[in-house]
Amino acid sequence: MNEVSVHRVVVSAPAKVNLALRVGAKREDGFHPLDTVFEALDLFDDVEATVADELSMEIEGIGSDLPTDDSNLVMKAARLLQEFTGTNFGAHMKVTKRIPVAGGMAGGSADAAATLVALNALWELNLTKEQLSELGAQLGSDIPFALFGLVARGTSRGEALEAVKPGALHGWILLTNPVGLSTPSVFRKFDELSPDAGQPASTEDLCEAVKGDDIAYLGSLLVNDLEAPAFALRPDLAEIIIALQTVGYGVVLSGSGPTIAVLCDIEKLEVLKAELANAFPELMIVTAVGPAAGAHIRQRS
Ligand code: C5P
Repeated sequence: MNEVSVHRVVVSAPAKVNLALRVGAKREDGFHPLDTVFEALDLFDDVEATVADELSMEIEGIGSDLPTDDSNLVMKAARLLQEFTGTNFGAHMKVTKRIPVAGGMAGGSADAAATLVALNALWELNLTKEQLSELGAQLGSDIPFALFGLVARGTSRGEALEAVKPGALHGWILLTNPVGLSTPSVFRKFDELSPDAGQPASTEDLCEAVKGDDIAYLGSLLVNDLEAPAFALRPDLAEIIIALQTVGYGVVLSGSGPTIAVLCDIEKLEVLKAELANAFPELMIVTAVGPAAGAHIRQRS
């Protein structure tokens, strides 16, 4: 057991939606070049890390049936941090999940980002956020964004970030689906449907719109190139999105889905949520406000 003064650290990390997700032709390394705009939401997973001899984890809340062995991104993040710093400290990570699992909202990435921040503090490693981000990018394309949060344009495979200063807060209704979608399968379908893809389209216009406060205009620019492949795999999602066309300021598939996100005024969130819960009784509906902070320490003792 290490003899550092910190024994317990609790970190929250946010879910994300992609306001725009433009995808290009598959690269030689198997990833797709992206031009995307992430927004972090005030829907957080928590990781509570406590000092222990070995590395272990448990999951509370939704996703409590997920594996807690070395295949979990939380364990991978902890091992990577050990290797990078040459330490052999242990820790127990308790993950409280609120972000839908396999939902296109980067819940696994949030857990990994929270773990990196929590263990950096617990083990007093003093790594910078940039160093944690480089480590995180080795494990998943969305992990750097979960560390920085707010709004950012992501290029390369989504891990190269440039902050975008938002001009307003946004309300989001998230229609989460009980049946998840696998990200690699959606990208494979994209390849099949888009044999002529080149470079991803630009998200410049959307970045400009985020800087302003015209939410209706922002809503009109929401776009996701993974919608066509996701809908080809899951026609039920296309039906939902068609039914939502006149709701709020815009509707878009979140990441590789299956979560569908509706942009609306913050004051209308609860009324709209009740209406949509009536219309789609089979879906779990969650409200959120963005942008929200990236992975941050909530408690330390
Ligand atoms: O990086 P991450 O673990 O989130 O990626 C999961 C999978 O999604 C990758 O293995 C790849 O199949 C696909 N992907 C992709 N291009 C990206 C990001 C993810 O093809 N830019």
